[in-house]
Amino acid sequence: MRILVVGGGGREHALAWKLSKAKRVRKTYVAPGNPGIAEVATCVDILASDIPGLLRFAGEKKIDFTVVGPELPLAMGIVDEFEDAGLKIFGPNKNASRIEADKSFAREFMGKFGIPAPRFQIYETASEALKYTKTVNKFPVIVKASGLAGGKGVFAANNKRAYEKIIDEILVQHRLGEAGNRIVVEEFLTGQEASVFVLTDGVSITYLPSAQDHKKLYDRNRGPNTGGMGAYAPYPTNKRISNIIENVIIQPTVLSMRDQGLDYKGVLYAGLILTSTGPKVLEFNCRFGDPEAQVILPLVEGDLLSAMVAAAEGKLSDEPLKAKNQWSLCVVLASAGYPTDYRIGEEISFKQKLDSRTLLFHAGTRMEDSKLVTASGRVMNVVRVHDNLKVAKQKAYEEIKKISFKGMYYRKDIGNTGMKKMKRKRRK
Ligand code: GLY
Repeated sequence: MRILVVGGGGREHALAWKLSKAKRVRKTYVAPGNPGIAEVATCVDILASDIPGLLRFAGEKKIDFTVVGPELPLAMGIVDEFEDAGLKIFGPNKNASRIEADKSFAREFMGKFGIPAPRFQIYETASEALKYTKTVNKFPVIVKASGLAGGKGVFAANNKRAYEKIIDEILVQHRLGEAGNRIVVEEFLTGQEASVFVLTDGVSITYLPSAQDHKKLYDRNRGPNTGGMGAYAPYPTNKRISNIIENVIIQPTVLSMRDQGLDYKGVLYAGLILTSTGPKVLEFNCRFGDPEAQVILPLVEGDLLSAMVAAAEGKLSDEPLKAKNQWSLCVVLASAGYPTDYRIGEEISFKQKLDSRTLLFHAGTRMEDSKLVTASGRVMNVVRVHDNLKVAKQKAYEEIKKISFKGMYYRKDIGNTGMKKMKRKRRK
């Protein structure tokens, strides 16, 4: 098979690394890719959002199967266009991608089908949104832009003044453009967060390992939200919680999408919060998580590519994909100033060769005058797999000491929650 992976971040590096190892794969292309991806695949200079360019390339190179990494091309309708052209592609079509791309649609859908979720209101104008302070008036509260905002569309308002400021920025000043034409105001929930991933063809569901992301910039989950500063997998839940996730969240969501005439094929990512009253959906995403893909894909032992092809063809089985009985941990190395004003173009150097058991997935890197330099906020992902989570963490952090670039920042506590959970489990 000739495969094409669309995207150029850490998630796509992990996908290209994993899929290129499949026996059936003769050639892997990634568009646009990055210098790390270039070590496992052929990178082609086409942006993930350039659907006509990708279509042309897939036609010319006789691509057998395309896998889409990021949400933007999915929301733009890449799957519809590839399928219309008779090309096989993995991911939901434009309508089904609304589960991520249109957060008010997603919340109304969850409400209609009784999927556990926070209470919410939807507003389109500032005057409507300000009524919240006269009616519900509960703080903290979460304000989300309904459209895709590249990870910059979720805000927590701790009080009325902060809420009014956010409303002004989104609905009056239109700082998020069209993505903020409508907002969802949601109940603030507390609990551990977990990322659950399934492959589906719209009927059958195949579970992948779950993970826990670390969205806040600083240790102990403080500071601003980021795209994710690290992750570990699997996320340790108990049987009771897993049953609720499967039977009350995932299965009803997949079947209700179908009920609504939405043909959901691809990966469904449920971002959950495990509250004292049970798991609730913070968000659904129509793609793999980043950095979650970097930890779940190294654990998958089953034939991921065949399962993805089966999902795209509507022939998936309900069997979970075989996974290693191990832990995987990823630490994200970020540029100084991420997630707001960060510097790029810093040279990345390696003081020592990395251990052959370390997986280094590039995110924002590029070659400049034959030197590897930083090119974005999240730069690299250092991943280790081990039988013991504590050792996976220790090894990943040892490896980080070999990498440097000016202003390199990373969290020091990735995996701590998982270790605490495991300790409590052992004591019981
Ligand atoms: N890790 C969060 C995301 O992929 O949306």
